[in-house]
Amino acid sequence: MSQSIVCNVVSCALYFDSKILIIYMALSLEEIKAPVKDELIKFEEHFVESMKSNLPLLNKITYYLAQKRGKQVRPILVFLCAKLIGQINNSSYVAASLVEILHTASLVHDDVVDDSYERRGMFSINALWKNKVAVLVGDFLFAKSFLMSLENKAYNHLQTLSLAIKAMSEGELLQMEKARRLDIDEDVYFEIIRQKTASLIAAACCAGISSTTDDEAFHQKMWLFGEKIGTAFQIKDDLLDYGDADIGKPRGIDIKEKKMTLPLIYALNHASKDDKNKMINIVKHHNTNEAKVAEVIAMVYKSGGIEYSYGIMDRYKEEAKTILMDFPPSDARTSLLGLVDYFISRKK
Ligand code: IPE
Ligand code: IPE
Ligand code: MG
Ligand code: MG
Repeated sequence: MSQSIVCNVVSCALYFDSKILIIYMALSLEEIKAPVKDELIKFEEHFVESMKSNLPLLNKITYYLAQKRGKQVRPILVFLCAKLIGQINNSSYVAASLVEILHTASLVHDDVVDDSYERRGMFSINALWKNKVAVLVGDFLFAKSFLMSLENKAYNHLQTLSLAIKAMSEGELLQMEKARRLDIDEDVYFEIIRQKTASLIAAACCAGISSTTDDEAFHQKMWLFGEKIGTAFQIKDDLLDYGDADIGKPRGIDIKEKKMTLPLIYALNHASKDDKNKMINIVKHHNTNEAKVAEVIAMVYKSGGIEYSYGIMDRYKEEAKTILMDFPPSDARTSLLGLVDYFISRKK
């Protein structure tokens, strides 16, 4: 097995791989995308086309969705994982479109669930067209992805992605149940984020590599890799919610929605009895009072919960990189290593 030394301070890493020393510098998202740039352009047309409908209202909404695209980390993952040991083919394109449509559907539904009015710096679908419309648009996108799988006879992708959709719903519901009872501990937190976020990212990696090899061992390996980076991705998302930068969606919304994420769980576990009661009381009864929520945020910062979460996220990052180092060196592997770093250093 290969070894790696990573120095976070200067964002560079030294990898000892097959006795060759590779110096790896932090890559920008543009550099990460470079090995699959052409494929991403072609994918984009496929993706926009695949959301179309004959119904004018639906077309208007899917056009709106296509206007402001996100980071597209999931299709990037599909293509890079496909390229790790093979050549991108039609099955990789189908997987990339399926994953991004499902991700889009999950965001449309998530903003209903979280009562959130901003997404990617624009009004969310529920903000503009109300919850009822958003729920149905999400359903439409789910149905579109099932049809696309069947039309392309992509039964393996359908199987992989259905597992992720099931896990995502379970994760969101578990989160909701815990928000009601506020009895969440770290294990439950990791279970929630593995299900609601890491499962789709794992499915993207698995579908990507399965478009180029039938070897189950590779599928499992990349699913595990995806779970690790997906977990790190959600920890980062939860940290961004505590920050003060513009992330194109509301901040401080997690406490408002009674979502207990890692920084808060840590703070509660390390607080005095009085402080713990105070925090729980605010999350339970004053979760929409901005001044009181700000008090909880300040207590979380003071507790060291933010640094602790960064440390845990780093561990997942390292474990993910170790999995990648089992693959032969290639442009795709270098980009994937860069993408793992991007997942935890991203600003939005
Ligand atoms: C947002 O995902 C939802 C989470 C799983 C945290 P992204 O951060 O990938 O969203 P976009 O597609 O870039 O907007
Ligand atoms: C991720 O959780 C939700 C999905 C998996 C769709 P969040 O609720 O934290 O995601 P954002 O912050 O709204 O993007
Ligand atoms: Mg949300
Ligand atoms: Mg969030």
